[in-house]
Amino acid sequence: MSLLKTTGICKSFGGLAAISNVSMEVREQEILALIGPNGAGKTTLLNLITNFTTPDSGSIILANQDIAGLARHKIVKLGIARTFQSLTVFENLSVSDNITIGHSSKVESSLLDMCNIAAYLKGKREHKHGLREKIAEVMAFVGLDPGLAKDRVHVLSMIDKKRVAIASALASGPTLLLLDEPLAGLNQSESQEVLGLIRKAKGAGIAVLLIDHNLEAVMSIAERVLVLNFGELIKTGTPEEIISSKRVSEVYLGK
Ligand SMILES: Nc1ncnc2c1ncn2[C@@H]1O[C@H](COP(=O)(O)OP(=O)(O)O)[C@@H](O)[C@H]1O
Ligand SMILES: [Mg+2]
Repeated sequence: MSLLKTTGICKSFGGLAAISNVSMEVREQEILALIGPNGAGKTTLLNLITNFTTPDSGSIILANQDIAGLARHKIVKLGIARTFQSLTVFENLSVSDNITIGHSSKVESSLLDMCNIAAYLKGKREHKHGLREKIAEVMAFVGLDPGLAKDRVHVLSMIDKKRVAIASALASGPTLLLLDEPLAGLNQSESQEVLGLIRKAKGAGIAVLLIDHNLEAVMSIAERVLVLNFGELIKTGTPEEIISSKRVSEVYLGK
């Protein structure tokens, strides 16, 4: 069943069509990969779905509602959580505070300055009904040692920082998790750990839309793959269909 559906969405920056008439769907509990060369529009598509940018035209339907342009905290409340291409965690806050921020669908953390975050977290800690349990639950889910909860994120390894980013996204209780290049900067065994988390999220009923350049990893985990090129969706199919597509190999191999 379809969870999220875009129809004919377009987004231009100046004269450049970053996303051109893209119609796609994410099905419930599927692992869907989004691939394409640099500048193809992958991040822009995630930004449109989460209203970090608004479409020029087209619709984005989630649960019978057009969420295009809807306030970001409302989109989180409706079940969409994301991570960012440049690993976005609050390095100077503790693991549990990072997860607390993700837990609250009312906070647009990207817009808050550190003063506001401090005040917000203080309030949260004082009314922490259920919060401690939630933090422990998502830390266990992503494989973070409970002893790290009070540690500042900047002391953690890269893989643990990735776990914090994913834990923070999971803390809002999403049905759709959008991951923008979660394997970047990880070695092969660390990448396998993140892929394991993605499978685990699916097992918990969450659909995952995954952007990554590691095609081998993507093809090993995705049930379906979308290929973007210059803002256009040029192919949708199973990993096997994508690998054998002449059009896709033209884009990737230039022939
Ligand atoms: N906020 C923005 N302002 C201007 N141009 C942008 C903006 N965001 C993305 N672009 C442009 O849109 C195109 C697609 O970018 P992006 O979605 O980041 O690609 P990808 O994630 O596939 O590498 C690129 O040419 C990029 O320079
Ligand atoms: Mg990108």
